[in-house]
Amino acid sequence: MDPQRLKGKNILITGAARGMGATNAEHFAEQGANVCLGDIDLDGANETAERINNRGNGRAIAVKLDVTKREDNAAAVSATVDAFGMINVGVFNAGLNKPRFFMDIDEDNWNLIMNVNTKAMWLGMQETAKQMIAQGSQDYPYKLINVGSIASRKPLIDVTVYCTSKYGCLALTHCGAVALAEHNITVNGYAPGVVVTPLWEQLDKDLVDIGFKERQGQAYEDIVANELKIKRVSYPDDIKGTAAFLASPESDYMTGQMIHIDGGWCIQ
Ligand SMILES: NC(=O)c1ccc[n+]([C@@H]2O[C@H](COP(=O)([O-])OP(=O)(O)OC[C@H]3O[C@@H](n4cnc5c(N)ncnc54)[C@H](O)[C@@H]3O)[C@@H](O)[C@H]2O)c1
Repeated sequence: MDPQRLKGKNILITGAARGMGATNAEHFAEQGANVCLGDIDLDGANETAERINNRGNGRAIAVKLDVTKREDNAAAVSATVDAFGMINVGVFNAGLNKPRFFMDIDEDNWNLIMNVNTKAMWLGMQETAKQMIAQGSQDYPYKLINVGSIASRKPLIDVTVYCTSKYGCLALTHCGAVALAEHNITVNGYAPGVVVTPLWEQLDKDLVDIGFKERQGQAYEDIVANELKIKRVSYPDDIKGTAAFLASPESDYMTGQMIHIDGGWCIQ
C-alpha cells in the first residue's frame, strides 16, 4: 500500500472533533490528504486540526458546522474549497444515539436522531455533490462516504430510531450511488459495530437509565459474548483503515457499498 495514498485529496469530514471522526481525519492527513474538520464543537475540531498541523503532513482547517443546517453544510464545502482549491471527498460521520424502547419513542427523540443522522447526511451529500458537479469531471471519481452502523442492517430492540436513521444512511448510499454516477461521483459507506468513543460511553450509561441493562459495562460484555465473532469491542484505530481505503484510489471501481467493520456481528 502506498503510505501517501491520499496525497492530493481534499477531504471534508463532519463530526471530527472527537471519536472516530477525529481519528479518521488524523489518519487521512497522515496519508497525505488535506482535511476540513466540521463539527458543532468548534473547540474540539480546532484541537484535532492543531494536532494534524503540528505533525506537518496533510494540512487541516476546522469549521463550525451544525450538520442539520443546509447553510452550514454549504459553508463547510466553501471553506474546504477556499483553503485547498477543490473538494475530492466528503465523509458524513457526525451522528448521535439516544436509546428508547419502541413504545417510549416520542417526537423529540425521533427528530433529534433522524435530523442529525439522516437528514443531515442527505444535506451534506447534496451540498458536496453540488460543488463536485460544478468542478467538472476528472479522470478519477469524486467520493462521498457515509457512516452507517450495524444498525443499518439489524433491528435492535433498544434503539429503533437509531436503526431507522442508519437504515436511512444505507438507503442514501444506494440511492446516491445510482443518482450521482453520471457525474463521476461514487457513494460508499462503512458500518461499525461497537467502537469505544464518547458516543458509546454515553450509550452505555443511557442503557442503564432506560432499564435495558443493570449496570454500566454490561452492554459491552453481552454484545461480545452473544453477537461478535471476533471476541472484543473495537476502537477508532480499527476503523480508520477502511475509511482511508474508501477515500483512496484503491476503491475507485466501487459504488453503492456499505462495508461492515463490526467483528462479525452482521454477516451477510
Ligand atoms: N461508536 C460506535 O460504536 C458506533 C457504531 C456504529 C456507528 N457509529 C457512528 O459513527 C459516527 C461517529 O460516532 P462516534 O462514536 O465517533 O461519536 P462521537 O460522539 O465520539 O463523535 C460524534 C461527533 O459528531 C459531532 N456532532 C454531533 N452532532 C452534530 C451536529 N449537529 N453537527 C455537527 N457535528 C455534530 C459531535 O460533536 C462529535 O464530535 C456516528 O455517525 C455514529 O452513529 C458509531
